[in-house]
Amino acid sequence: MRYQLTCQNLKFKYSIKNNWLFNGISFQLAKGDIITISGASGSGKTTLLHLLSKVIPQVKTGVFHGKISVKGKNISKYSPPALAKEMGVLWQYPDRQLIFPTVELELAFYPENFNLPVNTIRDRIKRLLQEFAIEDLKDRDTTFLSFGEKKFVALTSLLTYNPDILLLDELTSGLSDKKEKLVVEKIKSLAEQGKAILIADNNPIIDKLSHKSINIEDYK
Ligand SMILES: Nc1ncnc2c1ncn2[C@@H]1O[C@H](COP(=O)(O)OP(=O)(O)OP(=O)(O)O)[C@@H](O)[C@H]1O
Ligand SMILES: [Mg+2]
Repeated sequence: MRYQLTCQNLKFKYSIKNNWLFNGISFQLAKGDIITISGASGSGKTTLLHLLSKVIPQVKTGVFHGKISVKGKNISKYSPPALAKEMGVLWQYPDRQLIFPTVELELAFYPENFNLPVNTIRDRIKRLLQEFAIEDLKDRDTTFLSFGEKKFVALTSLLTYNPDILLLDELTSGLSDKKEKLVVEKIKSLAEQGKAILIADNNPIIDKLSHKSINIEDYK
């Protein structure tokens, strides 16, 4: 089976004089898999996602050992746009993810960058706004959305271009119960469609969804 994302014996620390933040993480994420990463605040969940998405070493640095492969190819061989096409990332802090003045423009960003036809973009945005029940947010300024609304819009924006792999940091933080239920159903259906999904979240509802759970604190 060709895995969408694998990591072998991953070790990381921010500085040479520190202890390993985590040491020896390995997993294989296939089409249709949901893996959750749990662990206390500060245990390294976001850091792991930074390694898996190349934020480390592209933006942040540290000491790193191990091998990460995306669709069978070493991650170091991917350019940032090539990796973004395969992997959509929901960041922990949505303020760093939303950059456009309206939700509609935000949702157009990825498909426009991937040169999808205008009609396809329009239809896709309309469908996603309906599916996620956020039609009322369409013309809203992203700056003034609540934290949960921002998180929700950022998640929706990833689905506008259909990446095969999804890395989702603190997926349920800030969501209302209703939106949390909707997200759970959506994640289930995305996995059934063959998406490979990795979620960093301590919410038991998310853990219940997953096929494999990794507690990062077991790798200290
Ligand atoms: N650029 C950096 N340089 C040095 N240390 C850092 C850096 N970024 C994060 N850290 C530290 O690394 C540890 C892991 O942080 P990380 O954000 O990965 O944890 P987390 O499990 O995602 O926490 P939370 O649940 O609060 O989001 C923390 O102690 C944090 O302070
Ligand atoms: Mg985090």
